Amino acid sequence: MNGSRLQRRVHFAALASIVGLCLCSAMPSQNAAPPILLGTAWYPEQWPEAQWESDLSLMEKAGVRMVRVGEFAWSRMEPSEGHYDLDWLERAVAAAGKHGIYTVLGTPTAAPPAWLTQKYPETLLMERDGRRAEHGNRQQFNWANPKYRELSRQIAEQMAKRFGRNALVLGWQIDNEYAEVSYDPETRSQFQQWLKARYGTLDNLNARWTTAYWSQTYSSWDQVPIETDYGNPGLLLSWKRFVSEAWRSYQKNQLDVIRSNSDRRQFITTNMMGWFDGYDHYTVAQDLDLAAWDDYVGAGHLDTARNGAAHDLTRGFKQKNFWVMETQPGFVNWAEINNSLDKGEVRAMAWHDIGHGADAVSYWQWRSALNGQEEYHGTLVGTDDTPVPLYSEIQQIGREFARTGPALAGTSPRSEVAILHSYDSRWAIQWQKHNKNYDPVEELVSYYKPLRAISQSIDVLPPTARLDTYKLVVAPGLNVFSETIAKNLIEYVQQGGHLVLGQRSGMKDDDNGLQPARQPGPLVELLGGRVEQYYALAVPVPVVGKFGSAQAKLWAELLSAKADDVAVLARYGKSNGWLDGQPAAITRRVGKGRITYIGAWLDDAGMAAAAKWMSEVSGVKPALAPVPDGVEVYPRYGEGKAVYVLVSFAKRKETVTLPVPMVDVLDGATKQTVTLPRFGVAVLTSSQAK
Ligand code: GLA
Repeated sequence: MNGSRLQRRVHFAALASIVGLCLCSAMPSQNAAPPILLGTAWYPEQWPEAQWESDLSLMEKAGVRMVRVGEFAWSRMEPSEGHYDLDWLERAVAAAGKHGIYTVLGTPTAAPPAWLTQKYPETLLMERDGRRAEHGNRQQFNWANPKYRELSRQIAEQMAKRFGRNALVLGWQIDNEYAEVSYDPETRSQFQQWLKARYGTLDNLNARWTTAYWSQTYSSWDQVPIETDYGNPGLLLSWKRFVSEAWRSYQKNQLDVIRSNSDRRQFITTNMMGWFDGYDHYTVAQDLDLAAWDDYVGAGHLDTARNGAAHDLTRGFKQKNFWVMETQPGFVNWAEINNSLDKGEVRAMAWHDIGHGADAVSYWQWRSALNGQEEYHGTLVGTDDTPVPLYSEIQQIGREFARTGPALAGTSPRSEVAILHSYDSRWAIQWQKHNKNYDPVEELVSYYKPLRAISQSIDVLPPTARLDTYKLVVAPGLNVFSETIAKNLIEYVQQGGHLVLGQRSGMKDDDNGLQPARQPGPLVELLGGRVEQYYALAVPVPVVGKFGSAQAKLWAELLSAKADDVAVLARYGKSNGWLDGQPAAITRRVGKGRITYIGAWLDDAGMAAAAKWMSEVSGVKPALAPVPDGVEVYPRYGEGKAVYVLVSFAKRKETVTLPVPMVDVLDGATKQTVTLPRFGVAVLTSSQAK
C-alpha cells in the first residue's frame, strides 16, 4: 500500500510540474491512469466545498482512483437558460486530482432543470395515456424532442469545451441509463418517417407485416400507431428498432460535440444495464469507445452465471474490455428486500467483474445526499463523515487493484466458445411467449452456465459477429433470422465450426413474421432435419439418449431427421402421445463442421450433459484446469502472458491444482495448488500465453 501510494504521489507530482503546478489546466501529455481502476460516484454539487477535502482523503485512503462526477447536476451547471457555471466542477476535478483521483464526467441530461421543462413543456415525455411527465423525478425528458436535443447538446458542448483537454478527465459518460420513451405526437410522427425510410412504400410494409390480417392495412403513413403490447409482430419489432436508433441519435447528438472538443484519449461511453432490453444495445454501442454497465445484484446474492453472462454480453458490445460503471456497496434501496451482500462477497464480486474483462469497478455511491429519493442506498461513508463497515473491504480491493494492475494491464478474456444473443429474438419471444414462464435470458443462461463451467470463458456475441475463431458457437433461442444471420451461420459450419441451435431457433424472419420454411428456416437444408411441431409444456417430459436421463421443461420441439446422415442424440419419453419416442435433439456432420439442433429446454442435469457432449465433440477444453464446483476461473490473456483470476463461491474451502507452478500476484508466492476459502481470490500469472 505504502509503495503504491508513494508511486502515485510521484506520478501526480510529475503531472503537476508539467502543467505548472496546476493540475486543472490543459495537459498535453497522455494520462497515466492505472490499468485497473477502483471508482465511486461522487456528487460534489450536493455538498459545501468545505466537505470535499475530507471525502477525497477518505477516497484516497481506500485506493479510489476514479470519481464519476456531473451526471444529474444540470441545475447547478446551468442555473438559468444559457448561463453556465462550471467553475465549481473544475475545482472538484482539480481537488480530486490532488488526491491521485481521475474523473469521468457525466453529461447531466437525465435530469433536466425545472426552468427548462417549465419553459419548454414539450421536452417532457408523454406517458402512454397522454399525460405529460412532471418535474421532481429524473428521466422525465422526451428523448425525441428537437428542443431537448438542442439544449442537451449545448450543455454537453460547454462541458467538452471546458474539460475536453483536461488531463485529469479520463472520459465521458453520456446521460444515465437510457430507458424511458415518449408517446407524444412528435415521436409518433418520427416513427412513421422511420418506417417510410425502412420500407419505402406502404405496399411493402403491408406485405411484410401481413396487414391483411385483422384489417390492419395502411393506406397512409400517419395511420401507423405506436403499439407496444399486442400489436402486429412486425409493428412491435419496428418500434423497438426505431427506439434503438432514436437512442443512438440522441446519444450521437452529444457524442459528436464532445468528440469535436476533446482529446482522443478521452473515451466516450454510457452506462448500460446488463439484461435490460429497452433498446438494442448493439445499435447504441456502435458509436461509443467503451462499453460500460451498472451491475446490481438487488435482492439476494451474486448469481455468477447470470451476472457473468451479463458481463460477457457487455464485453461483446465493443468486443473488448469494459467498465462496471456502477455497482452496489453492499446493498441497494430499490429491491423488495434490500439485503446486504455477505462480508467478503463485494470483494469476490469485484474480482468476478475483473475476471470477465472489466477494467474498472465503480461503487454507487460514495455518500448519501442528506435528502433525495435514495437516502437508504448503500454507501462507503456515512452522513457523519466516517467509513461504514464495508469501507475496509473496499480498501482491500483498492490495494489489490493497485498491486495486480501491472500484471492485468493489456490483458483480455479470449474464448473458444461463443453464445449468440439477439435483442430481436428476445423481444420476439417475449411478445409471444407461448408459455408464460419462458424467459429468453434464462434460456441463454441455461446453456451458458454448464458451458462456462467446462470452458471457463465464453464470449456473448450478436449473430452477425465474425465466428471463425470459435470451436463451438451456441445459439439458444435465436428466433429471428435475417438473411445475413443465416449466411453467417451457414458459412461458419461450412468452414468447420460446430453450431448448436437451441429451442425456438430460426422461426421468424427479419420482420418478425413466420419463416416460409419450418424451423430452423434457412438452415433446414444444412441441418438435414427440422422442427415438425413445438409444444409448450405444462409438465416436464422425459428426454433420454446422449444427454443421459433428463427432462424437458417449459418447451419441447418434435424434430425429424430427413437426411440419412443425421444422428438422433436424444428422444422424448412418454408424454402427450405426439412427442413419445420422437427426436428431441439431432446432429449432422457437414465436412469438418457440424450442426446440432436441441429442441427441448433441458433441465440442469440434461444441460450439463449436453454441454459436456458439445464441448467434447468440438474439442473445447478448460482454459486453466478442471476446478471444484463453486470455484470460478477467469482467464485474461495479453502479449506473451496469461493471468488467471480464481474466485471461490463454494460454501467450504476448496483446493485447485494448477497444471504448472504460477505466481499469485496478491501475495507474491509461487503455487502449484491454491486453497481458497469462500470468497477467496487468487490472481495467478503465467508466461505461457494461450
Ligand atoms: C442506477 C442509477 C444511479 C442510482 C442507482 C441506485 O443505476 O444510475 O443513479 O440511482 O441506480 O442503485
